[in-house]
Amino acid sequence: MQIDVITIFPEYLAPMRAALLGKAIDKGLISVGVHDLRDWTQDVHKAVDDSPYGGGPGMVMKADIWGPALDDVCTDETRLIVPTPAGRPFTQAVAHEYANESHLVFACGRYEGIDQRVVDDASRRVRVDEVSIGDYVLVGGEVAVLAIVEAVARLLPGVLGNPKSHAEDSFQDGLLEGPSYTRPEVWRELAVPEVLRSGNHKLINRWRRDQSLVRTFERRPDLLESLPEDAFDKHDRAL
Ligand code: ADE
Repeated sequence: MQIDVITIFPEYLAPMRAALLGKAIDKGLISVGVHDLRDWTQDVHKAVDDSPYGGGPGMVMKADIWGPALDDVCTDETRLIVPTPAGRPFTQAVAHEYANESHLVFACGRYEGIDQRVVDDASRRVRVDEVSIGDYVLVGGEVAVLAIVEAVARLLPGVLGNPKSHAEDSFQDGLLEGPSYTRPEVWRELAVPEVLRSGNHKLINRWRRDQSLVRTFERRPDLLESLPEDAFDKHDRAL
């Protein structure tokens, strides 16, 4: 998978070359290009923004800089992703969608955003998504790109050591993952739940499922409500 990021803060994306993502790059599973938006400016000040039409605070990133940048970086295959708090929510389902793409391009906005015509124009040629990573406002799209790329990269075949790792992810079955434990058996007078040491895998799986359901009910009841009726077995319903 090819990933390109256009930003005015290329150094912000340095963590993409570290840890899990760095390894995926080394293995040739993903290839990452980080581009400085200012390379597409023509003026001595390398200005990328201007004041908003209609007035108001802040600055808007200019269409005549973003347009040529996207023309150069996007191809027919590109899925263009524009992180913005005004976007559709980025979820695990969307991460799976992106993991099936061959080319992701991220356009990082700063300040009050990017002139809307940039997205409107790009939509005439490529598939464009404006996505939000949560209901809070970051200073720009860069941190959202890091989060999205990590969520996508770990789904690519060969990136995680153990391919079973994401079969049990939170959200894979629409529920939050329950708690995990490792040695020692008792730590600061807190014992590992007995059932996990029973060796009875049927019981263990049932216990884990119950923990997931309880945790989801307590922390994210909205997730339970959006699951279809047949997502629950008779033990779930008894809980
Ligand atoms: N840019 C600023 N805030 C953001 C958010 N919550 N999600 C995605 N991009 C953003």
